[in-house]
Amino acid sequence: MSETIGVYEIEDRSFPPPPDFAAQANTNDRSLYEEAEADYEAFWARQARELVTWSKDFHTTLEWELPFAKWFVGGELNITANCLDRHVEAGRGDKVAYHWEGEPGDTVTITYAELLTEVCKFANVLKAQGLGKGDRVAIYMPMILELPIAMLACARIGVAHSVIFGGFSADAIVDRCDDAEARLIITADAGYRRGAPSPLKATVDTALASGAPTVEKVIVANRCDLELDMVDGRDLWWHELMADAAEHCPAEPMDSEQLLYILYTSGTTAKPKGIMHTTGGYLTQVAFSHKYVFDIKPETDIYWCAADIGWVTGHSYIVYGPLANGVTSVMYEGTPDTPSQDRLWDIAERYGVTQLYTAPTAIRMFMKWGAQEPAKHDLSTLRVLGTVGEPINPEAWMWYHEHIGGNGRPIVDTWWQTETGGHMISPLPGVTTTKPGSACHAIPGVFAELVDDNGNVVTNGGGYLTITRPWPAMLRGIWGDDERYRETYWSTFEGRYFAGDGAKLDDDGYLWLLGRVDDVMNISGHRISTTEVESALVDHASVAEAAVVGATDDVTGQAIVGYVILRGGNEPSQELGDEIREHVGVKLGKIARPKTVIIVPDLPKTRSGKIMRRLLRDVADGRELGDTTTLADPGVVTEIADRAATDDEA
Ligand code: PRX
Repeated sequence: MSETIGVYEIEDRSFPPPPDFAAQANTNDRSLYEEAEADYEAFWARQARELVTWSKDFHTTLEWELPFAKWFVGGELNITANCLDRHVEAGRGDKVAYHWEGEPGDTVTITYAELLTEVCKFANVLKAQGLGKGDRVAIYMPMILELPIAMLACARIGVAHSVIFGGFSADAIVDRCDDAEARLIITADAGYRRGAPSPLKATVDTALASGAPTVEKVIVANRCDLELDMVDGRDLWWHELMADAAEHCPAEPMDSEQLLYILYTSGTTAKPKGIMHTTGGYLTQVAFSHKYVFDIKPETDIYWCAADIGWVTGHSYIVYGPLANGVTSVMYEGTPDTPSQDRLWDIAERYGVTQLYTAPTAIRMFMKWGAQEPAKHDLSTLRVLGTVGEPINPEAWMWYHEHIGGNGRPIVDTWWQTETGGHMISPLPGVTTTKPGSACHAIPGVFAELVDDNGNVVTNGGGYLTITRPWPAMLRGIWGDDERYRETYWSTFEGRYFAGDGAKLDDDGYLWLLGRVDDVMNISGHRISTTEVESALVDHASVAEAAVVGATDDVTGQAIVGYVILRGGNEPSQELGDEIREHVGVKLGKIARPKTVIIVPDLPKTRSGKIMRRLLRDVADGRELGDTTTLADPGVVTEIADRAATDDEA
């Protein structure tokens, strides 16, 4: 345990909620915690009835047959009726749902009423393609409004969406479409990134040329006016289909446990897991956490989650949570340094953003760019600052606090996962005294405990993070693989959900998340499996064997370092190393491309033949990481060999 947890310096600074903030907060005392501790099912049932509109009330709050949960059993609802219709029906149709801003500076403002119409029209488009309840559709899109519209249109008619992050490769599209047997892909010609169109439809074409036979049709939104090869009978333009679509589509009631979406995430094997989320429980927890963790005031707030919808953060906190709560959100298409490094602060100032939700890796990048960038803008409208995706180091927390929050805004460090669906561990901004770098405590209704290697509960010090009771937004399983679901999450510690993270409890009962304890890397808050990258490396014709580790990186948290042994007949060279790196980029997508590939004559192994990753990580941490190939110099080889020998004897 100590090996993976390492030495962690506990912070002694603490920040109580500012009194004026607490005075107006949605909650400012321990009552929600107390209510949930007294009877957590009754607590969640109350939230479900208050925050969600049901067409038929549920009769049973929870049916729990470990590890399979059903929440709000017997209940019926339509998630889009909750996100759209009920706001319009209550006379809030003119309220802005999204202030969307394109990277080149073009903007669109869409109200709840307009969004409802677009969603209904696109739902009718999907119906006309023969899609309905029980089907799956893949979505591979840039951050344009057609993306939430497509997701909501699926949800309106009971089609499960599987959003594939736009940075993933053609192979990743094939794998995901095959696994989910997706019948249709919704994409766009491209999206703007760093000042230029970044193509998507072309990648879909490559994918469909090599596989994904279940995909019958491709619907293409036009974002960048690119010339495209439209395949006759397969490819359809979004705008042409929408031109003829009817504006009314009833919000059919769905069972509370109706599959809402599948979202693939990396595990410890090469095959990504299709995490399944259903309707009633998911909506309840995302609406609850969004309201209380960000202290949402729908009448006045301008909320901004600066994530990509391709990840779970965007699903829960750009689409479903904010829309369910009827708040106005900002949605931004592009990169934070285009055209200049103050782009985010410029957007925040112009729209008067009240909540900002981003990742530690982004904050560390802003630190690098310098405090003069946010200082150019008036950020006084901000009320709550959020972070997610990876542990936040106290320096980054303090910088966020000082330079973005003007020393007076609560910071909510939210720990959760694709699997958990919504926030699990986080301060409540009007209640919790925060400590820089700690996610503090489980939110009301969620129960977390640390355990040691033997499964004994740890009340002080390091341990493995587990969740002890089911929660409404929990994954309902892995698509098509119940056994893997049980094995991955519920078999390590009996009766407990094992998150895969290490954590530490301090003397005051605060939780400090310390990162993954398995073979999963966290690059800029994105989960990437070492095994997946290793498979992509050995897929290159010149590579005989590969080992991948996540080395420490100042900005991205971890950086991928691949060690490769070449097949006989190949000479190590810079060019070959670069080609191998690129190969991973093509196989998996740019985000999984190693920062460095080190060509080595051998890999350190234990006598039983296991690669000693920890040693490779140490070696990588001890080096200046180039952005490209590093040929193993004899020093490194000797170091690896020497240390392997010493460790093996130890
Ligand atoms: O290791 C934890 C880290 O991100 C993992 C989940 O990744 P993913 O499913 O991609 O979801 C990311 C966005 C919810 C976790 O197992 N992680 C997430 N949030 C935090 C975190 N680590 C520390 N602190 C956090 N706030």
